[in-house]
Amino acid sequence: MTLNVSVIGLGYLGATHAVAMSKLGHNVIGIEPFQSKIDSLQSGHAGFFEPGLDEELKNQIASGRLTFKTAHDESSRNVDVHFICVGTPQLNGSLAADTSYLYSAIRDLAPFLTETSVVAGKSTVPVGTAALLTKELKELTGFEFPNLAWNPEFLREGTALEDSLNPDRLVAGVTNKISEQKLREVFAPMIERGIPFIVTDLATAELVKSAANAFLATKISFINAMAEIAEVSGADASQLAEAIGYDERIGNKFLRNGVGFGGGCLPKDIRALMARAEELGVGESVAYLKEIDKINLRRRDRVVNLLTEELGTLANKKILILGAAFKPDSDDIRDSPALEISLMIQRAGAEAIVHDPIALPGVNKKHPELSTEQDLAEAFNGVDAVVLATEWQEYRKLEPATIAGIANKFIIDGRNVLDVAKWQQAGFKVLALGKTITN
Ligand code: UDX
Repeated sequence: MTLNVSVIGLGYLGATHAVAMSKLGHNVIGIEPFQSKIDSLQSGHAGFFEPGLDEELKNQIASGRLTFKTAHDESSRNVDVHFICVGTPQLNGSLAADTSYLYSAIRDLAPFLTETSVVAGKSTVPVGTAALLTKELKELTGFEFPNLAWNPEFLREGTALEDSLNPDRLVAGVTNKISEQKLREVFAPMIERGIPFIVTDLATAELVKSAANAFLATKISFINAMAEIAEVSGADASQLAEAIGYDERIGNKFLRNGVGFGGGCLPKDIRALMARAEELGVGESVAYLKEIDKINLRRRDRVVNLLTEELGTLANKKILILGAAFKPDSDDIRDSPALEISLMIQRAGAEAIVHDPIALPGVNKKHPELSTEQDLAEAFNGVDAVVLATEWQEYRKLEPATIAGIANKFIIDGRNVLDVAKWQQAGFKVLALGKTITN
C-alpha cells in the first residue's frame, strides 16, 4: 500500500530515511529549512559521504515519489505519517541532549495536523521526551493529539541505507492501535520479509535506542579496558577478544580494541543517558557509563604516551595521522578519536600531518590549525612517526617496503589491522594498542 509520508530534518538520519521510504514505494516529502540543502538534495547530493546513497537518491527523485520543500504547505495535510528526524546533539556545557529542534519541528507541523495524522519520532531522545511532546502538541493543536509514536532508527554510518531497509528489528512505540497500524502499513514490505516488528509503549521505544548504544559502547570499552591490562601484563587483547567472542553469549562483534569509539552517536548518547538517569533520580544505575566514557578517552592518551616514550619529546616532531573520520567509509569527524589524537599531539608541540581519503575538507574547515595531506605517498615525507587511527582499506593495504622519504620508521597501529611482521621486515618499529610487540 502506498502512503504519503513526510520526513522532517534531512541530515544523516532524515536523508537516508526519506530515500528508504521512497524505495519502499511511498510518496515522500522531505522537509528541511535550508534552501541550499534542498538544492543539494534535489541535485542528488545528500551532503555527506555515504556509499550508494547519492545514487539511490537520484533514482528515487527520478521515480517522482521523492520531493523536497523548505516548509510545510497544504500537501502536509494529506500526509499519513510525519517522521521527525531532527538532530539531538549534546548541549554545550552539559552531558544532556539538546531537544530544541524537536520542539521547533512540531511547532511548524502543528497547524497541518488533524486527529488522524500520525507523527513518528525517529530521533534519539532522552526517555520521557515523547510524553512531553504529547503535552506540547495539545497546546499547539488545541486538541488531545492522539497519535504520537516513537520509531527509533539504528542505522550505522557507512551502511546507512542497507541498515534502514534491512534492520535487525523495527521498534514501534505507540499509545494506540491507529498509530501501530499506520506504522505497520509503512513498513509492510519489510515486515513481510520477516523483519521483527516490536510494539512497545513510548518510553520503552525511546529507551531501546539509548540502551542499544550504551551496550555497544560498553562492549568496546570493555575490550579496551582488557587492552589496558594486556599492555601491562604481556597479554594480547585482540587474541583475547577472539577467544571470548566464540562464546555465543558474548559474541565477537564490537570487540575490536583500539583507539576507541567516536562519531555523532555513541559518545553523546551515553552522556545523554547518564544525564537523563540523573534527572530521574536513578543516576547510579548508569554511573558506570562514566567509566565507559573515560576508558574510551584514555585510549587516545595512550597513543600520545606511546609517541612520547618513543620519541622522547613531541616538541618539533612531525607526526602523520592516518585517518580523520571516526570510522572508515565515512567523512564524519564528530568526536573522532583520530582527529582528537591529532589535536592532542599538536598541543604537545608536534606538527600533526593528517591524511584521510575523504574527510579532509571537513578537517580543513573545522581545524585550520592542522596540516593535511591528500596524497598518501607524499604524507610520509619527513615524518618522525605514523599513527594509524582509522582503519581505511588503503591503510590496511599499504606496502611498507614502498614507503619513501620517511625520517623515522616508526608506526603505531591504533586499530590492530596491520600485518606486523611485514612492517617489521620493511624496517619499521611497530607498536599497537592492547599488546606488546617485540621489535
Ligand atoms: C552507532 C550504532 O552502531 C548505530 O546502531 C546507531 O544508530 C548510531 O551509532 P555509528 O556511529 O555509525 O553507529 O558507528 P559504529 O559502527 O557503531 O561505530 C562507532 C565507533 O565505535 C567508531 O568510532 C568505531 O571505530 C568504533 N568501534 C566499533 C570500535 O572501536 N570497536 C569496535 O569493535 C566497533
